[in-house]
Amino acid sequence: MDLRAPTTFLVVEASQGERVHGLLKTNGWLEAHVEPLRQEAGRIGFPLTAGADSETVREVACSKLGVSSKCIVAEVARRDSVDPHHRLTKAVQAWLDTHQPSLKAAALVPTKWERLGDLALFPQEWRHSDAWPTVSQHPKAKALWEAMAKALKVTSLGVQAPIADDTFRSSQVEMLLGSSEVEFTDHGLTYAFDAAKVMFSSGNVTERRRIGAMNMQGEVVVDAYAGVGYYTFPMLVHAGAAHVHACEINPASIAGLRAGAAANDLLDRLTVHEGDNHDTLIELKGVADRCHLGLLPSSEPVWEACLLALKPSGGVLHVHMNVEEERIEAWTAATIHTFESLVAKHGSGFSVQAAHVERVKWFAPRVRHVVLDLRFRP
Ligand SMILES: C[S@@+](CC[C@H](N)C(=O)[O-])C[C@H]1O[C@@H](n2cnc3c(N)ncnc32)[C@H](O)[C@@H]1O
Repeated sequence: MDLRAPTTFLVVEASQGERVHGLLKTNGWLEAHVEPLRQEAGRIGFPLTAGADSETVREVACSKLGVSSKCIVAEVARRDSVDPHHRLTKAVQAWLDTHQPSLKAAALVPTKWERLGDLALFPQEWRHSDAWPTVSQHPKAKALWEAMAKALKVTSLGVQAPIADDTFRSSQVEMLLGSSEVEFTDHGLTYAFDAAKVMFSSGNVTERRRIGAMNMQGEVVVDAYAGVGYYTFPMLVHAGAAHVHACEINPASIAGLRAGAAANDLLDRLTVHEGDNHDTLIELKGVADRCHLGLLPSSEPVWEACLLALKPSGGVLHVHMNVEEERIEAWTAATIHTFESLVAKHGSGFSVQAAHVERVKWFAPRVRHVVLDLRFRP
């Protein structure tokens, strides 16, 4: 569709909206890419496809369906597309028409992006497109970033880069426009951090929900790799944990953790242990009903310290790991065996049982991010 052309709307009373919407859709008269027009006094306008004859549509909708005589056809200069990809394509094409007519928008419009508050992050592959070098070094590139941000209804734009292979698991976002400081709500919880300095894995959303859906009423929990509170906040708010000891080494993540805790009103139920968890977990011996071990590719460096953090009454460990698909069962058995050896070494007297293995996401071809829930009973 040509988004510059005026759109014709069939305007009806909102109470008739559902029936009219169904009729327009069935007949192929509804333009799916344009937002409906909400009018005052409870009236709604449905965008019609360019091929639909508006008089025929009006007759059918108004008489056959018996909707009110106030059913009218209106033409509106131009409406934003309801589809952000459409809006982005249009914005990019308009910029190319003026500044780089040899290129087509399709060569430059990413098919997906991640949104963190007012920041849209394009995938790193976007940088590998043939058009990227020409466009990113263009003297008018800023106008393109502004147009793309406007099309996506954000104020900042960045491009993802691989997570740094460092202790902090730092994000390496390259900012194109605006600020990398983000604040947004996910599942009723506020997160606030600098996206250029810390990672936020939206792909772990199912795991955050799963952890949040558990019953941790009254429990003391150790989060060994707390980050900006990805799991700490759901455990405190949704799962009902009484207190979380959050270990974190990256100052940028600690700043985000504290900002988020303040925004979610959790400061009095959270203790932040700054520094290497190799040192901070020593202070947490025998305090926990549960430990969360959320580091990839492996959380093994804290297995022993988290076992020792459990109370004598036992508890649960959530062990994160990247495991090849065909090795998940063998890895589960080997992990139980390792913990049984650690229990024997420390004379903790626990039995070790695998309560659940969660396949969170694909990390790489054939490699899964898994979480093994281990239960320790005296
Ligand atoms: C992968 S991030 C957490 C991601 C989060 N669990 C998720 O899945 O979205 C891991 C966090 O652990 C922190 N970290 C890594 N090694 C650490 C250590 N030895 N002591 C304390 N924190 C550490 C990093 O700074 C980072 O914030």
